[in-house]
Parts: sequence; structure tokens; C-alpha cells
Amino acid sequence: MAALGFCLGGGGGPEPGADQAQAPEGPMLASFTPLGRPLGEGRFGQILEVSLAGEAFALKRFPPAGEDGISSEFLVELLWLRRLAAPCVVRLAQAGFFRGAPFLLLEECGRNLRQEIGEWDRADTPAVLARARDFARQLLGAIGFLRSRGVLHRDIKPDNILLRGGVLKLCDFGLATPDDGRRHESPSYTLPYRPIEQLLGDYRADASSEIWAFGCVVGEMAARGVFFAGLTEAEVLASISAAIPIPNARAWPEGHDLARRRGWALPHGAPKPAVSCTFGSLARAAELALRCRRQERPSPEALLEVIGPN
Ligand SMILES: Nc1ncnc2c1ncn2[C@@H]1O[C@H](COP(=O)(O)OP(=O)(O)O)[C@@H](O)[C@H]1O
Ligand SMILES: [Mg+2]
Repeated sequence: MAALGFCLGGGGGPEPGADQAQAPEGPMLASFTPLGRPLGEGRFGQILEVSLAGEAFALKRFPPAGEDGISSEFLVELLWLRRLAAPCVVRLAQAGFFRGAPFLLLEECGRNLRQEIGEWDRADTPAVLARARDFARQLLGAIGFLRSRGVLHRDIKPDNILLRGGVLKLCDFGLATPDDGRRHESPSYTLPYRPIEQLLGDYRADASSEIWAFGCVVGEMAARGVFFAGLTEAEVLASISAAIPIPNARAWPEGHDLARRRGWALPHGAPKPAVSCTFGSLARAAELALRCRRQERPSPEALLEVIGPN
């Protein structure tokens, strides 16, 4: 079964901030064939595997344009993917509309990092450690690349990290923003990856927020499961304080002030960081990334030095 769509073209083109209501390029028609196998679950439905001119792609669909116009999630993701073309970002092949609903056609990746971790041996074998180091290094490279472009992803987590033939690629740029110090009205990052200051009510995101999420991903590779689990902010905060040291009120007055405003008391936290020491320099990198005082979280380059070569 072939489907016809109205397409806006692929990578390159205008930067976010350009007139968002206009098609970035002249119209062209694409014909793709659904292959039937869902690649994953997205907020707006399944990500489907489709074939176009004999090549397999991932089709990500968005809600149809309504009274408010074209879905803003679609526009944000389209514009960032066009701007951030690089090996560490999932490649946008085409974008367009099908029966009034916008879609992105992306290079197909084999799996996400959550699926990958789910298949690892429970024992910290040399093969597991080598993979964890490799992916941690690649993730820092991707975060460093975004940083060099002045962009924050704001939803780093294993589900949004794709793997294609061993190459790590960030996807899902629906929450990405310029790193311009703006104040956000609502929190970013999915709950278990949300930086501690955001859990306490300070929603400013900056480079240090991405580093916290990196620490959570490394913790997850070590634990083979969500590192700071919880269904509410209070539960995630409890998981954090069970795993890492929380500075006292003298050392971290702003954190304790935020907690007090919410009617919470910050517990002391665990005496030592909790990433298994068999993870060696990766455990040390996670410990540094998961610092409560955001100014202490190192840059991606400094963390790469801590981890050392593969
Ligand atoms: N290009 C792709 N190749 C393979 N799988 C993908 C691709 N894009 C997304 N997926 C799968 O679909 C899931 C959801 O995609 P994502 O872009 O994160 O959607 P959402 O914005 O709704 O979270 C991902 O976790 C991944 O498993
Ligand atoms: Mg996602």
C-alpha cells in the first residue's frame, strides 16, 4: 500500500525563529510504503517503519492541524532537526503532511538505549563495561555538540537516545530550546532524569541540567534500570537522597530555601554516591555529574577526561 504525502523537504534550510507557518521549501510529493512494524511508542502514536525508494525510514506522526494551526511540537522538532544536522542527531529525511497531519521521516535506527540496556548481562562483564563507556562517551559528545550550537535538549533519557550500528543519536527535540538563560514556567526533563533544582521548583535549564540527565543515564546503565525511580517529584527526590549525598543548608542554602518554600525538608542523603564501583571511572563521572550544586557539575569535555579513552 503506497501513501502519498505533501512534503517540506529534509535537512538544511531555515533556523528556528524563521516564519514557522510557512513551508521551508517548495512542495514535493513523497510516496512511502508502511512496513507494518512499529518501532516505538510516541506521545502522538506509534513510530512506524516505512519504506521510501527501497530504503527503510522511521515515520513520526503529529496531531492534525487544528484551529490553533500546525502542531507546535512538530514545528519545534522540524526546525531543530534541520538546524542540527550531525552524526549524533537523528537524520531528518523529509517532513510533510499526510491527510492534514504533519509527519517527520527519520533515518531508521535499530533500537533505543533503554532497549539496549535491557539486553545487557546482569553481571558487570568487560563487554558491558566497554559498551557503557562507549555510549557514555558518545552521549557526552552529543551534549557537547548541542552546547557548541547553544542548544539544550531538555529531555535526555534512554528512550530519546537511538543507536544505529553502534552510533548514538539523539532524537525527540520537542522540548529543545536555545540555551539563553530564559526562565521557564514549567519543568523540563522526564521525572527520573529531572535535575534536583527543578524538582525543588527552579525550572531554569542550562548546560548543567543536561549533565545531571547524563549522570542519570550512566546510573541507569550501571543499575540496568531507572536510577532515580519515582512517580512524583517527592518520590524521585526520595530516591535521589537515598543514593547520593545532599549538601547541608550551609553548603547549599539555595537548595534548602527552595525545599522550604515547598514545605519540604531536604534529608541528608546517602553518605556515598551509589553507582557500582565496578564501573570505575564511569562511576566517578556519574558522581560528578550528579552534584546537587549545579555549578559543580563538570563540562562534557571535563567528564570525557574523567572517563578516559575507550
Ligand atoms: N528514527 C527512529 N528509528 C527507530 N526508532 C525510533 C526512531 N525515532 C523514534 N523511534 C522510537 O520511537 C520512540 C518514540 O520516539 P520519540 O521521537 O521519542 O517520540 P515522542 O516525542 O513521542 O517521545 C523512541 O523511544 C524510539 O524507540
Ligand atoms: Mg521521546
